[in-house]
Amino acid sequence: MSLLRVQDLTKRFGGLVAVNDVSFDVEAGEILSIIGPNGAGKSTLFKLIASFLKPTAGRVLLEGEEISGLKPHIVARKGVVRTFQETTVFKEMTALENVVVAHHLRLKAGLLGVYFASPRARADEASFRASASEILDYLGLGHVKHERARNLPHGYLRALGIAVAMAAEPRVLLLDEPFAGMNPEEKDRAVRMVRGIRDRGITVLLVEHDMPSVMRISDRIVVISFGTKIAEGTPEAVRNDPAVIEAYLGAEDETLGH
Ligand SMILES: Nc1ncnc2c1ncn2[C@@H]1O[C@H](COP(=O)(O)OP(=O)(O)OP(=O)(O)O)[C@@H](O)[C@H]1O
Ligand SMILES: [Mg+2]
Repeated sequence: MSLLRVQDLTKRFGGLVAVNDVSFDVEAGEILSIIGPNGAGKSTLFKLIASFLKPTAGRVLLEGEEISGLKPHIVARKGVVRTFQETTVFKEMTALENVVVAHHLRLKAGLLGVYFASPRARADEASFRASASEILDYLGLGHVKHERARNLPHGYLRALGIAVAMAAEPRVLLLDEPFAGMNPEEKDRAVRMVRGIRDRGITVLLVEHDMPSVMRISDRIVVISFGTKIAEGTPEAVRNDPAVIEAYLGAEDETLGH
């Protein structure tokens, strides 16, 4: 059985069909990228998978169990966790504090005030710090642990967003444009980081416009255009698919890395 199954998923916004009857499977341990021109419906598809949006039709299954329609925090607790296109960290906290807080939030969303004052919170603190510290180390952020987030360069901030998501202990991590705005060196580091995450057994779903990175990192690619899946396969197969080349011809800001 596939880890995650996207089945006949459709999302309409009024008259606009943002996602149109899309189906694909995600296998455990793979890096699967979803690509397509601007406005193709990639972020909407992510929001449907993580249950931030309700599908108009179709469903999402995690190990055969329907998760579409559940609240996003329930879906996150089941292991399907997304990062955001924009970075969302606490700027005045250090990198380490941000990841520790994410551990706390995961456990006690809703009752934070009561929780932080409790003996349980103090007991958790030490183990959260150790775990947060370990996450930052293997994401290559160990040396900036004690820097305030607001002092971190863009590439590190994006990576910190991923570290925060890792605190939720995802089984499937959905990354929406993690390489956006990075310089080549930051991108290289980020590509290694995503591989490292997969090597820890976490399945990665990636939406990304940076084609050289996508081609390097993906096991498989799903291509969508105007909400519809037009291709699926290995990077090599997708890159040479006439329908894919056609879909990208109109898009000025990206290439397939030919
Ligand atoms: N909440 C919403 N209400 C109405 N229309 C929306 C909403 N969210 C997205 N859309 C529309 O749905 C279509 C798909 O948007 P989406 O953000 O999923 O595209 P995308 O593939 O992620 O694009 P990009 O590569 O630019 O991030 C677009 O036409 C967008 O304007
Ligand atoms: Mg998007």
